[in-house]
Amino acid sequence: MPGTCVIGLQWGDEAKGKLVDLLTEEHDIVVRYQGGANAGHTVVFGGQTWKLSLIPSGILRDGVTCVVTGGVVLDPASVIREMDGLESRGVRIGSKLLLSDRAHVVFPWHVTEDRILDGIVAGGEAIGTTGRGIGPCYRDKVGRSLAIRLGDLYRPDFRERVAHVVAAKNRLLGAGVGEAPLDAAAIHAAYAAHAERLRPHVVDTTTFLLDAAEAGKRILFEGAQGSLLDIDHGTFPYVTSSNSSGVGVASGSGVPGRWIERVIGVIKAYSTRVGGGPLPTEQINPIGEHLRERGREYGTVTMRPRRCGWFDAVAARYTARLSGADELAVMLLDVLSGLDEVRICSAYEIDGRRTVDFPSHVDDLKRAVPVYETLPGWTEDLSGVRGYDALPRRAHEYIDRIGALLGRRVSIVSVGPDRAQTILRGAPVPATASPNAWPRPPHTSAANA
Ligand code: GDP
Ligand code: IMO
Ligand code: MG
Repeated sequence: MPGTCVIGLQWGDEAKGKLVDLLTEEHDIVVRYQGGANAGHTVVFGGQTWKLSLIPSGILRDGVTCVVTGGVVLDPASVIREMDGLESRGVRIGSKLLLSDRAHVVFPWHVTEDRILDGIVAGGEAIGTTGRGIGPCYRDKVGRSLAIRLGDLYRPDFRERVAHVVAAKNRLLGAGVGEAPLDAAAIHAAYAAHAERLRPHVVDTTTFLLDAAEAGKRILFEGAQGSLLDIDHGTFPYVTSSNSSGVGVASGSGVPGRWIERVIGVIKAYSTRVGGGPLPTEQINPIGEHLRERGREYGTVTMRPRRCGWFDAVAARYTARLSGADELAVMLLDVLSGLDEVRICSAYEIDGRRTVDFPSHVDDLKRAVPVYETLPGWTEDLSGVRGYDALPRRAHEYIDRIGALLGRRVSIVSVGPDRAQTILRGAPVPATASPNAWPRPPHTSAANA
C-alpha cells in the first residue's frame, strides 16, 4: 500500500491543508490521526475558500473516504458544525466520513480547564493555547479515570459515566478555582443528541485502516500542527499535547509505520508561530510586517496575528530528520517577493558556541542567536508561475539552498493559496537524506559534532 504522510516541519500552518487537498486526487483514504479542533486547514479552489478543522482536508473531493482516528481528540459539537457548514455549501458527506469509537471526547470541562490552566503550567509565559480543550482532554486520556471515548457515548452506562466524571470535575474545578458547578444532566442530554447525529459515522477505524492497507488502498495521512509543537520532540512546554511530528502517525492511526512509503515534509518559505514560546528567527520589524501582511498570517482558528521571521534551517533540518521526510514541499514562496534580500538561519550561537543541532531544552533555544546566510531577493510576482523553470533564478537559489541545508529534495513549490498555484517537480525520488549532507561549520564543537 502506498501510504503517504503530509507532515508540517515548523510550528503549524505550513499549508498542509492545501497540499492534502491536492494529493487527495491520487488517494482512496485521507486520515487525521492526532490533534483536534485546534487545527485550521485551508483549501482554496474555484474561487472558494474552505476552512477545515477536525474533518480531513480530503472531504472536498469525491470518491474518497475521510477517517478521523482514535489518536484525535474529538469535540462532537465542532464536528457537527463543520459537517453542517460543508453540507450547506453542497459538499455531500454521507458515508464518506468515519470517526473512531476510540477517539477521546472533548467535554465543556476541558475547555474550562484549558482557559484556567494556560499560563500557570508554563510558569510566567502562557503557552497561548487555542482554547479548544485539547490539552485537558489528552490529559484525561492519559490519566484514564476521567476519560470518555466516543464509543462510550453509545453504552448503556453513559449517563452514569457523565455523572461520575462531572462530580469529580465539580470537586476539582469548584474547590480549586471557584468555577460554577457543571450540570451533569444537561451535558448528558447535549452529548446524547450529538451521539445520535454522529452514529452512522462511528466505527472501529483501526480495523478499517488495517483492512484497507492490506487490500492495497492508497492512504494519505494528514498531520495537524507542526513537528516543533510535538509533545515529546517539540519546544516543550510550548507545544500541543499530541505527537504532531511524523512519529505520531502509527500511534495515532494504528497503521504500522512500515506501510508508509512517502513522507512529505511541508515548510513555509519563512517561519511563523502562534502563541508563546521561542521563535529564534522572529522579526519584530518591517520584515516581519511584510511577511504577516503578504502572507495573511492571522490564525485560522483564533484569528491571532502569527509571529513571523526568517526560515530556520536548524529547526527544519531537525524536524525533517525526526519526521523521516523524504522530500520537501516549500509553500508560500510568493510571500518573499519584494524583499531586497532573504535570509536563512543555518546555525545557532548559544552562549558563544556555534551549533547546527536543535537544542532539547527550551531555555537553550531561548538564548539561541541565529547565524544567517543572506541571499539576494527577487521582485517578480510568483503567483502566476506554473513551471519550476519559470521561477526567477534567485528563487531557485533560495530553494536549492534550503534543500541543501535540509539534505532533501524540494519536490513541490507553492506560489499562492489556490490549488492551481502549485508547481510539482516531477516524480518524487526515494529518500536522499544522508547524515553527511549537512555542511557543519568547521568550528562546531566536538561535543556537538
Ligand atoms: P495548515 O494549517 O498547515 O493547513 O495551514 P493554514 O491553512 O492554517 O495556513 C496556510 C495559509 O496560507 C492559508 O491561508 C492558505 O490559504 C495560505 N496559502 C497556502 N499556500 C499558499 C501559498 O503558496 N501562497 C500564499 N500566499 N498563501 C498560501
Ligand atoms: P494547524 O494544524 C499553529 C499552537 C497554539 C499554542 C500551542 C498549544 O492549523 O497547523 P493547543 O490548543 O493545541 O493546546 O495549543 O499550539 N497550535 C497551533 N499553531 N497551527 C496549528 O494547527 C496549531 N494547533 C495548535 O497556538 O501555541
Ligand atoms: Mg492552520
